[in-house]
Amino acid sequence: MKNASLLISLLLIIGNSCTKPKISACDTQNNKLHFKFDFPIGVAVDHNKLFFQPEYAELSTSQFNSFTAENAMKMSQLQPLEGQFFFDDAEAILDLAVVNRIQIHGHTLVWHNQIPNWLENFEGTQRDWEELLKKHIQTVVGHFKGRIESWDVVNEAFEEDGSLRKSIWLEHIGPDYIIKAFQWAKEVDPDALLFYNDFNLALNEKKRKKVIQYFTKAAAQGLQIDGIGMQMHINTSYPTTTEIGNCITEIWQAGFKVHISELDISINHKGDDIAFPGTEALKKQADKAYVIFKLYQNLPPEFQHGITFWGLRDNDSWIPSTFNRTDFPLLFDREYRPKPIYCKLIQSL
Ligand code: G3I
Repeated sequence: MKNASLLISLLLIIGNSCTKPKISACDTQNNKLHFKFDFPIGVAVDHNKLFFQPEYAELSTSQFNSFTAENAMKMSQLQPLEGQFFFDDAEAILDLAVVNRIQIHGHTLVWHNQIPNWLENFEGTQRDWEELLKKHIQTVVGHFKGRIESWDVVNEAFEEDGSLRKSIWLEHIGPDYIIKAFQWAKEVDPDALLFYNDFNLALNEKKRKKVIQYFTKAAAQGLQIDGIGMQMHINTSYPTTTEIGNCITEIWQAGFKVHISELDISINHKGDDIAFPGTEALKKQADKAYVIFKLYQNLPPEFQHGITFWGLRDNDSWIPSTFNRTDFPLLFDREYRPKPIYCKLIQSL
């Protein structure tokens, strides 16, 4: 008799739990992604969307505690005319971040892309080019001194074979432009954390080792370089968990903070003709993000600079327009609804 009543009570408990209305366990009202982790959770933000799309601003300021300006702090935006600096958009982003207790990661002082038009036509000696770049770096870093705690000083300076990228900076200043850029930044803000940032560092072991070797040597010679940003524009197939883990390990064991600086996880990197993401693809994306966060959580805290997503919603991503394909690489859909990747991070970690 006793077993029968136990069985009945068990069935009642199971039945009852199945009938209770499921309250979404990962709605964005009751969950804030950055509260879940001891390291900063960032998002690349667009100035116009922040200030003209209230839902974009609300979700960005509530779910994240670090901002990277997707474009507003690049050279083309900050010095659109030679010697004339435009800080309004960057300042507006900074103001919004400050009132929401959000830190800012500055991106980026030196890059071969998004250089201003006047620079395309600049003519001068090596010294003229050095003075030009030094002035840009020291004007910008000096302007934000004490308010921006970390900078991508140099972005994407290495080719996939580990050689130095043949950029406008290498052409006109020479290979020392990288070291000089870090030195110039440090001169005006000794307290800012200075990063090198690049893509494919997990996928391309040869490139990764050359980058780490270069900055290990530079640091040994006295250069302040605090961290390396692994951008992580990845997809559900590659790089593998092992490759990502090796990259994180090799960077921190070389003594550099690790910033997963531009995370997006494509689910349609083959460019299939799809209108909507499939359930299985969204699960693979969620599982990949889970693994990345688990790997990152194992980092010694002093080497965790944070994980930054490169955009808010799938339709905010640079990927669809750049590669002319539909893709769904981020945390939220175009209606600001959390996707399985967000729910996985909220519920499983
Ligand atoms: O601001 C102009 C606007 O005035 C003009 O009307 C419009 C149409 O031509 O272009 C606007 O500029 C665009 C800019 O984004 C701001 O929206 C540029 O064309 C466009 O090329 C630029 O794309 C950015 C890209 O860097 C430039 O290479 C993406 O938003 C940005 O997500 C992407 O981010 C880079 C990181 O900085 C470095 N790592 C790689 C990552 C992806 O490329």
